[in-house]
Amino acid sequence: MVPLKRRKVAGNNSVAEQGGDKTPPKFPEVFLFLLERKMGASRRAFLSQLGRKKGFQVEELFSTSVTHIISENNSGDEVRAWLDSQDRTRRCPAPLHLLDISWFTESMSAGHPVQILDRHKVQVQQADEVEVAVFSVPSYACQRRTSLDNRNTVLTDALSLLAENAELSDQDGRGVAFRRAAAVMKSLPEPVTSMTQLRGLPCLGEHSLRVIRDVLENGASREVESMKQSKQYKALKVLTGVFGVGAKTAARWIREGIHTLHQLRNSGHTLNRAQQAGLEHYDDLNQQVSKAEAEAIQQIVEEVVASVLPGAKVTLTGGFRRGKLMGHDVDFLITHPEEGKEVGLMSKVVSWLESQGFLLYQKTTRNSYLVSDDSPALPPSNMDRFERCLSIFKLAQDQPHRAKQLGALPLDTAEHRRGDSGLQTDQDSCSQRIQTPGGQEDTKPWRAVRVDLVVSPISQFAFAVLGWTGSKLFERELRRWAGQEKAMSLSSHALYDNKKRKYLQASSEEEIFAHLDLEFIPPSERNA
Ligand code: UTP
Ligand code: MN
Repeated sequence: MVPLKRRKVAGNNSVAEQGGDKTPPKFPEVFLFLLERKMGASRRAFLSQLGRKKGFQVEELFSTSVTHIISENNSGDEVRAWLDSQDRTRRCPAPLHLLDISWFTESMSAGHPVQILDRHKVQVQQADEVEVAVFSVPSYACQRRTSLDNRNTVLTDALSLLAENAELSDQDGRGVAFRRAAAVMKSLPEPVTSMTQLRGLPCLGEHSLRVIRDVLENGASREVESMKQSKQYKALKVLTGVFGVGAKTAARWIREGIHTLHQLRNSGHTLNRAQQAGLEHYDDLNQQVSKAEAEAIQQIVEEVVASVLPGAKVTLTGGFRRGKLMGHDVDFLITHPEEGKEVGLMSKVVSWLESQGFLLYQKTTRNSYLVSDDSPALPPSNMDRFERCLSIFKLAQDQPHRAKQLGALPLDTAEHRRGDSGLQTDQDSCSQRIQTPGGQEDTKPWRAVRVDLVVSPISQFAFAVLGWTGSKLFERELRRWAGQEKAMSLSSHALYDNKKRKYLQASSEEEIFAHLDLEFIPPSERNA
């Protein structure tokens, strides 16, 4: 009898043919060897294990059976020098592939050895450097152009989720670090394929780099995936999804064992007015607002503003001004070309909207900003003190194109006052089947939308537009740049020069960028 292991098997070995207790190698022709030089022992061990998990044969020691040498951050000359230093008897016969780590990571992602391209080879150093694009990125987001064309969404989604989780967990410092890292990746002109491309990039801390590496190698970050599944994160998402509930409140409720809306409703907690409205319109408010819906609301707001103060101007700000097609709310800035005319405007606008049944909720805060002659009245924070109305709008569904008519024929006020229980039941063409927070299906011809109205005097308008256009990180970086690089304090009201001890006037965003010695970045490229 011929022993099983000696038996010759024609063609590809299959599991059944091989028998025995050892899993056959998935890629019998491929023997990898990872060069420890510059890679380090622990990373080499980790990658070797990863390779084996994916079915590759990874040799611990260099030998004649090795077919692929994988190195990281080594030039072709360096790998050759190392090869030459090896014992002659252990040198490999040709063909031996000398490859960069990019081939390894791409093969891990693909789950099989990918075709070897020129850019994977380390032999010719010049080719290596030409092929791997090395990006150059200035360190402040306000020095960069970040369009909506993000070429690295998988990486930025992972980093943004970690940022969000940190913010929800009251760890703002960590949140900003991940936001900055995500913003750098968003600004890159091409998809990142290898860690070597990230050399020299700003704002990429150890933790962010670890996440990026994980995504490049495995297609996803283990940390992010397990975070998304965690009870804590899920509960924080659900609870802070209620308008009026911040991270601190949500954390307190979670400590009390409240993880769901159902538990919150039954907890006996007294909710404030905002939270009650947030709970009532939970589904609507957690559904993105479209550009068309934002424009429909803009028409209504423009109409009311024109009727209560002719000549006043309404500007759509926030994400929609940056060209986004979806948003979580709609932000408007209102001003009048004659300073002082805007006083009293907000209350008139709100009264009109309310009387016509357009508001499901509103809270107006008065302007508390005082300009002082010799020092900035504000710390450079993102809290501003404009007269502001935080509202929940009642927008007729599926008829943004009929907004003009809608403005003239507002929704029935009595029906609005009755709230959700007084929903219209007739199934007209613009009705939509919806799932209420309670779970039962209902039909209503409108949806709730978060709308922010802000009134600014014309003298502060340029600062207000700049401050309300975002993105949040772009704004944060502008203020950081102003403070750290220019000894200035920027807010949504003013720019103060700490050395000259005076305010710098501006009537356009361009002038503010010029005061700050920054190249003007248009709104569509502030999507940091
Ligand atoms: P948003 O939170 O509305 O963000 O703030 P966004 O960019 O429009 O994104 P989505 O689509 O709604 O999610 C818009 C801008 O208004 C500023 C923020 O800093 C941001 O730049 N803002 C917001 C303030 O200045 N003060 C506030 O109280 C709130
Ligand atoms: Mn917004």
